[in-house]
Amino acid sequence: MDILRRMRRNRLTPAVRSLVRETTLHRDDLIQPLFVMEGEGIPEPVGSMPGVVRHTVSTLVEECRKLEGNGIPAVALFPCIDQSKKDHHGSHACDPSNVLFSAIRAVKSACPSLALITDVALDPYTSHGHDGLIDDRGEVVNDSTVEILCRLAMAQVEAGADIVAPSDMMDGRVREIRAGLDRAGFQQRGILAYAAKYASAYYGPFREAVKSGSPSLSLDKRGYQMDTANVREALIEVKLDEEEGADMVMVKPAGPFLDVIRAVRQSTHLPLAAYQVSGEYAQIHAAARLGWLDYEAVRNESLLAIKRAGADMILTYFAAEVADLYD
Ligand code: PBG
Repeated sequence: MDILRRMRRNRLTPAVRSLVRETTLHRDDLIQPLFVMEGEGIPEPVGSMPGVVRHTVSTLVEECRKLEGNGIPAVALFPCIDQSKKDHHGSHACDPSNVLFSAIRAVKSACPSLALITDVALDPYTSHGHDGLIDDRGEVVNDSTVEILCRLAMAQVEAGADIVAPSDMMDGRVREIRAGLDRAGFQQRGILAYAAKYASAYYGPFREAVKSGSPSLSLDKRGYQMDTANVREALIEVKLDEEEGADMVMVKPAGPFLDVIRAVRQSTHLPLAAYQVSGEYAQIHAAARLGWLDYEAVRNESLLAIKRAGADMILTYFAAEVADLYD
């Protein structure tokens, strides 16, 4: 056949393929989310997230030492709070005895070079599981929630967090958190804004991990998280968070929202994170367990796709296990 452009020439050998590869993952791109609970003893496995556990503070520190040694630049910490401490107002959030603060202090002193990212939202602390305070009609109230979130962010930073990550989707919270941190002399601590966070059904296993609701029962957060149908709205969210002083922005979930990652990448010059959430992780494990997918191949492809769409960094439960593949 007379074919001028034979595309397969560039696919002929691994060496040629590596020369023409457009996207590569690097361990520097990876952020490991980790769960911490109260108490001593052995970590508890999270049923719907194989390989993921709720750490105690001491096993969390061990894990962070390993990650740091393995070149993972950052971890994102999420607390699992005892049911008895949850209430309508999430009052345990800013309580000095909140296990999150001891965890932050312990990780920071053991692993000073690891970037420590903490989640700013009330869902681990509220009995209803919402990310903020709710009124009589069950609506999450914006402005008074923002006040509490500022206090929570401040307490996290005082304990040693490098970057606070508001995941609550309240309006105006980035500006308030930035102002509060600056007033207190924490000008060098960063804000990673969950800018385009969707009201997704893929958060189920995470809610099991932090014991907020159940994985199959989806808590309706559509009054504050974004409608999964929208892209332009994500660009407005990103613009607002950028104007309010975010240092980095995030799209979440990642895999089902690659178009959003791409659109955000084209609309901001800020560093862009994408969160491959618990449900994305769980579905790869589930299909692999059934023998329906090749676990490692699909895992790697899922991460590469997120990078290819335009993410600079990826929060993924696979971070530790894939780090050695990506130098
Ligand atoms: C809550 C929060 C959630 C996740 C991160 N922070 C759940 C939610 O919004 O209901 C989900 C992460 C995941 O599914 O892995 N502020």
